[in-house]
Amino acid sequence: MALRKIREIGDPVLYKTSKEVTSMTLRNKMLIEDMFDTMYEADGVGLAAPQVGVLKRIVVIDVTGENPLLLINPMILETSGEQTGSEGCLSVPGKTGVVTRPNHVKVRAQNKEMEWFEMEAEELLARAICHEVDHLDGHLYVEKAEGPLQDVPDEEEEEE
Ligand code: NI
Repeated sequence: MALRKIREIGDPVLYKTSKEVTSMTLRNKMLIEDMFDTMYEADGVGLAAPQVGVLKRIVVIDVTGENPLLLINPMILETSGEQTGSEGCLSVPGKTGVVTRPNHVKVRAQNKEMEWFEMEAEELLARAICHEVDHLDGHLYVEKAEGPLQDVPDEEEEEE
């Protein structure tokens, strides 16, 4: 298990556009494994490669803790509906903000074998996909947050 350093708001890498992944190299496989490890270790529900300083269109998501999802070169094909709710980001520690997102998305992406697939998602998973795809285009949720960000109550300070 290898953890990578999570880049935080203000780091220039978070505002750049990530590049298409063209093949599944050993380097990319290791990156994906490290991204899952880093996301789970940080108790996150999603992580995009630029958040660990790598400008590649790779996203990992797990909104339940039991459904790891890898999206390579994801494209949102359709959106519908609307949801407004609280959102956080591992690159914006200790904060949440209210963001309105589509309630339903249809996505096309490649898997670890670089095979294209399509999937549909709703509610929290739809929110996570939109949030992570935004990262690949250099956008943070704070740009879309309605009103000021809120502080997360610091009940999780057992770790140094
Ligand atoms: Ni994020």
